[in-house]
Amino acid sequence: MHPSISQSKKIRSGQNIVFIAGKPEELPGDHFSAKELQYIRKEFKDSKRDFFTFNNLDQWLFVRFIREDKNEYKILEEMRKAGDLLGKTISDQKIKEIVLYNCTGSKNTIIAFTEGLSLGSYSFRKYKTEKEKDTLKGPFPENIGVYSAGLGKNDLTELSVIIEAVFRCRTLINEPNSFLSATVFAREVKQMAKECGAKADVLDKKKIEALQMGGLLAVNRGSLDPPTFPVMEWKPANAVNKKPYVFIGKGVVFDSGGMNLKPGDSMSTMKDDMSGAAAVACAVYAIAKMKLPVYVVGLMPATDNRPGPKAVVPGDIIRMHNKLTVEVLNTDAEGRLILADAITYAKKYDPALVIDLATLTGSAVRAVGKFGIVAMEEDAENELGLLKESGWRVYERLVEFPSWEEYGELIKSDLADLKNVGPGEGGAITAGKFLQKFAEFPFIHLDIAGPAFLENADSYRGKGGTGVGVRLLVDFIRNITKK
Ligand code: BES
Ligand code: ZN
Ligand code: ZN
Repeated sequence: MHPSISQSKKIRSGQNIVFIAGKPEELPGDHFSAKELQYIRKEFKDSKRDFFTFNNLDQWLFVRFIREDKNEYKILEEMRKAGDLLGKTISDQKIKEIVLYNCTGSKNTIIAFTEGLSLGSYSFRKYKTEKEKDTLKGPFPENIGVYSAGLGKNDLTELSVIIEAVFRCRTLINEPNSFLSATVFAREVKQMAKECGAKADVLDKKKIEALQMGGLLAVNRGSLDPPTFPVMEWKPANAVNKKPYVFIGKGVVFDSGGMNLKPGDSMSTMKDDMSGAAAVACAVYAIAKMKLPVYVVGLMPATDNRPGPKAVVPGDIIRMHNKLTVEVLNTDAEGRLILADAITYAKKYDPALVIDLATLTGSAVRAVGKFGIVAMEEDAENELGLLKESGWRVYERLVEFPSWEEYGELIKSDLADLKNVGPGEGGAITAGKFLQKFAEFPFIHLDIAGPAFLENADSYRGKGGTGVGVRLLVDFIRNITKK
């Protein structure tokens, strides 16, 4: 459950209020006594204090000052974090209703604050016993009112959709493989499509075999569950584009590494290996629910990756959907195999641009950690520029890695056309290069392995699945409608 967000047209007495302001002079006079205001002014100036709490028995008043920064993106991120921080007090005190009172002139500021407060309230409690659930009964807050000048008609409804989409994405990621098989994932995608008015179609094992998707089938060979390949399509009559934007998400519902079994603890978070597919499903969901006039398609090849008597073994040579042959030297480099087939499949849509999202490499994690998405492009320089801007706006930042052809040389096989691993160095790049070999259109690859899943909460990003990619893609598409 996410908090409900709506516009407050006026303030009623006794409401819990958060005042968001640049400086004390901006606070409205009628909510504080002269003494309180004096106190705020002094503390703000002398102690550089920017957060105040007043508990007036029946009413909570909070004041949050936001200091100026030259970088607008940083201000917005500060606001999200401030929203999350306030959320901690709100849930400690079990406050259900809160009004956010915007004293600044900027609506983006209040939207970011609302976003951080809402996103920070997420929790995954499905597997907690009822008793414990009751004591925690949330969410806190349950209702957020926003009192602000300059809000557009759609600002808060669109924000609500985004929050809902990120929550759904996180839950899909947090669901363990014991619930979320590739089959169940496909069912969830269908359900979401139904709710948002998008079209959904699931390629089943038979169809995947008929299409000779050798990559997806090879990864699935050790599994007891069949692979699936859900496709979501949002094609509104008023679309601004003829050729679609196609998003592809890695849907490895559990990655054991296969025959190259992952060692030690490195397997423990691998239910998150479908974070790319979840982000794609939830981004298309949000875009459709907002009825954005853009034609988008989501492709989500899904399977688990396991050892087993029939599993693909190192040295096997497989034939991909586009007929290229691949020498599988490491079965833990499975993501690129299923994505490559999906990239080939995207061709039938004659796409304007294809973007893939994948928890693809440990190499990307080592390079940038949880703070960045590794991005590579081919024939999509302008589009990557726009995506980077979106990355700053939503603070899911991109760092570009090179697509130099020398890296492509590293994945040529002696026996087949390609091999699925290069040498140790530049692992995130050779993985991206592998995918590019299958793209015959403008293509952006996003390796989200770093930020997709957190073992410790990072402000409003929370613990577990973060939903990274959802806000990024939605902002990117929304931005296209504004051009
Ligand atoms: N799913 C992993 C990548 C990953 C690692 C995601 C850590 C999130 C956190 C991927 O399938 C994988 O195992 N990649 C290997 C590739 C290697 C064998 C070339 C890796 O990065 O170690
Ligand atoms: Zn793997
Ligand atoms: Zn993987």
